[in-house]
Parts: sequence; structure tokens; C-alpha cells
Amino acid sequence: MAASPPFYAVVVGVGSGTGASVARLFARRGYPVALLARKDANLTPVVDAVTAAGGTALGIPTDVSDPASLDAAFAAVAATWPGARLAAAVYNAEAGFAYKPFLELTPEDLDRALATGAKGLFHFAQRTIPQLLDAVPSEEGKEQQHPPTLIVTGATAALRGSARFATFAAGKFAQRALAQSLAREFGPRGVHVAYAIIDGVIDTPWGKDRVANDGKADGKISPDAIAESYWHLHTQPRSAFTHELDLRPFVEKF
Ligand SMILES: NC(=O)c1ccc[n+]([C@@H]2O[C@H](COP(=O)([O-])OP(=O)(O)OC[C@H]3O[C@@H](n4cnc5c(N)ncnc54)[C@H](OP(=O)(O)O)[C@@H]3O)[C@@H](O)[C@H]2O)c1
Repeated sequence: MAASPPFYAVVVGVGSGTGASVARLFARRGYPVALLARKDANLTPVVDAVTAAGGTALGIPTDVSDPASLDAAFAAVAATWPGARLAAAVYNAEAGFAYKPFLELTPEDLDRALATGAKGLFHFAQRTIPQLLDAVPSEEGKEQQHPPTLIVTGATAALRGSARFATFAAGKFAQRALAQSLAREFGPRGVHVAYAIIDGVIDTPWGKDRVANDGKADGKISPDAIAESYWHLHTQPRSAFTHELDLRPFVEKF
């Protein structure tokens, strides 16, 4: 049996867009990656891509809005990589997006936005923060390790509500509030919590037909570029933590 790695990374919300890009990059930079999403169909291609590139990935079908499902996922990680410590956790679950006039929204739309936008982050952070605290380097070893990191994918709607975005914005506001609170509580204990405001349309394989910024080249945000920013956040020294980062295409109005 292969020896357990010293550290691993976990990404929840692995589709073909941002989740896949973050998984591939963190694996390329040396972490075995645990990949969580509900459907095998989303996990398998990313696990295969990481493995084909020489990395290590473990795909675990998981619903982040269900605490029992998350507990089972982390039990599977611990069984596969016993003793491995958590270096980086990325919360990227699709957040119940519903683009509708307010009077057409349903209570279920609100439930979905809160379930993956906010409650899922609550459950995920309750399970990852203790592991990240456990991975805070001792004074002697600190130059060899990056500070343990929790990164949350946000959106413009975390900063302002807009017409047709009522439930999505409610979930993202709550998500940002949680992330800020975690940063203030756990930053001083050595865990870096960062919130990324993704201010524009992401150029995902599943959203190729979505036009943004009149279809201009680079008018959508590259998920690989988001992943590079997440790696930068992860590797920041504790004397210079970013809590909030915003990313937008060069032509985006803001
Ligand atoms: N796409 C955009 O234009 C855009 C713009 C701004 C911000 N964002 C933010 O970016 C993040 C998503 O990144 P992305 O759009 O590039 O998507 P992505 O990484 O391609 O996929 C996200 C994945 O989240 C998974 N997911 C949804 N509900 C889940 C649950 N309950 N438990 C576990 N996994 C779940 C879905 O897989 P399963 O269905 O298999 O669970 C989905 O494939 C979200 O926070 C979103 O608000 C997106």
C-alpha cells in the first residue's frame, strides 16, 4: 500500500468549470485532491484528467447541503489517506442560481440558494476548519508550508442585489457574511480564509452559449485564471493575507 501523502486539498463543487480548473492546478502543484460533487458524471472526467497528468485525485459523490453526506466524504478521505493533513479547502458549489422576476420566484428557489450558498459552506467549514487548524505549521516548520487555506467562490451578487437576482443574492450575501466571520475568527489562529468575488461570467465548458461583453475575446473569466488566483491566495504568507479578492474581465463594467 502506498504511503499516505503529508497533505491534501479538497474542492467541493466540481463541475467542468472553476471546480475542475482548481482541482487540476492544485494537483499539478503537488497536492492529492479530494473532489466532491453530487454526480459521478461531474467527478469522473476531472479525476481522469488529474490522473492522466500524473496527479492523484479521489472523487467522492457528496451533497454539501447534507451534513451526513459530508461526514461520509471526509471519512472516505481519512480511510484513503490516513494521517494526511488538509492544506487547502475550496468551496465552489453552484449556489442555486435562479434568474427570475421576483414574483416568479418560488420558496424552493430561496431554499436552494441558501442550501448551497450558505448552509453548505457552514457544514463544509465546520468539517474543514478543525482540519485546517490542525495543519497550522509549528513555528519551526512554517517556512516549509503554506498557511492552511479556505477559499470560497463568491459572485457580484455577494456585494449587491439586482433585479432578477433576489434569491441568488440572498444566498451569496449570507455566504460572504460567513466567510468574513470565519476569517476574523480563524485568521489570528493561522488559517487563511479568502472570499473571491467573481464579477463576470465564467468561461465554463457548460456555458459556451452564454454571451458576455458582446462576445469580445476575454470578455468572460477564464476558470484556469481563477485557479491561478486561488493558488496565489493559498501561497500568501501569513504576514500578508488577502481576505477578499475580486476578479473581472478587462472589459467588464463595474
Ligand atoms: N458560472 C458563472 O458564470 C459564475 C459567475 C460568477 C460566480 N460563479 C460562482 O462560481 C461557482 C461555481 O463555479 P462554476 O460556475 O465554474 O461551476 P463548476 O465548477 O463547473 O461546477 C460547480 C459544481 O457544483 C456542484 N454542486 C452543486 N450543488 C452541489 C451540492 N449540493 N453539493 C456538492 N456539489 C454541488 C455541481 O455538481 P453536481 O451537480 O454534480 O453536484 C456543479 O457541477 C459558484 O459559487 C457560482 O456562484 C459562477
